[in-house]
Amino acid sequence: MSVSQHWEKEKYEKNARFVSDYGKELIEWLNPKKDEYILDLGCGDGVLTKEISKYGCKVLGLDGSQKFVEATRKLGVDAIQGDAQNMNFENEFDAIFSNAALHWMTNPDKVLEGVAKALKKGGRFVVEMGCKGNVEKIENAMFEVAKRHNFKAVKCWFFPTEKEETALLNKYGLKVKRMTSFSRPTLLPTGIKGWLQTFSAPAFVNIPKEMHEKLIDEIAEKVEKELEKNENGQIIADYVRLRFEAVKK
Ligand code: BEZ
Repeated sequence: MSVSQHWEKEKYEKNARFVSDYGKELIEWLNPKKDEYILDLGCGDGVLTKEISKYGCKVLGLDGSQKFVEATRKLGVDAIQGDAQNMNFENEFDAIFSNAALHWMTNPDKVLEGVAKALKKGGRFVVEMGCKGNVEKIENAMFEVAKRHNFKAVKCWFFPTEKEETALLNKYGLKVKRMTSFSRPTLLPTGIKGWLQTFSAPAFVNIPKEMHEKLIDEIAEKVEKELEKNENGQIIADYVRLRFEAVKK
């Protein structure tokens, strides 16, 4: 995940632990088997990579952020720094797993080309990522507020429809075995500001830090009026997930 290279583990830990908590369900889809070799694409802080290793398989985490690679290694799991849009593995993995990472890779062709090459024949590609409509209210507010200040926000996320993702997978010889998309209203434990502080920087490149803080305040003010809240007044983000398993033909 090259855009995430600036991510700070502590901030992520505080504001985004829910990402790996939700990802545990995806491990059931992966169904790791003893002695398999599995790549965790965009492994983040390695919490799920470690979970997968408990099934007795050999795992490798790959992430654009060196800090995340170090965090993963600290958990006793092998990890390397690299760009998933420029992989060079060949017929190595029994399965490739990816939770909440693929939407950060805005060149999906390059990712899927690398995935298809990296998998053994019959190998599984098991993914959860943002689907079309994911965090739409937040993203719209980011663009609107940036424009208000004469900045251009960068479109840094790729949220495909089921149809678009299926077409892409087919193009690289990856056959969809199962696919689903669903809305998953997601409680933000540290509010919308915590979320924006963790995730919005790649959209605001070359914007001074103080200005980024100001944008966050204004985006938060707008989004807080638009998103639902739970009974304690905590904000619930408009997450929409795309989950699939595809197999290399
Ligand atoms: C997601 O997991 O859907 C997501 C997280 C951060 C930014 C954008 C999307």
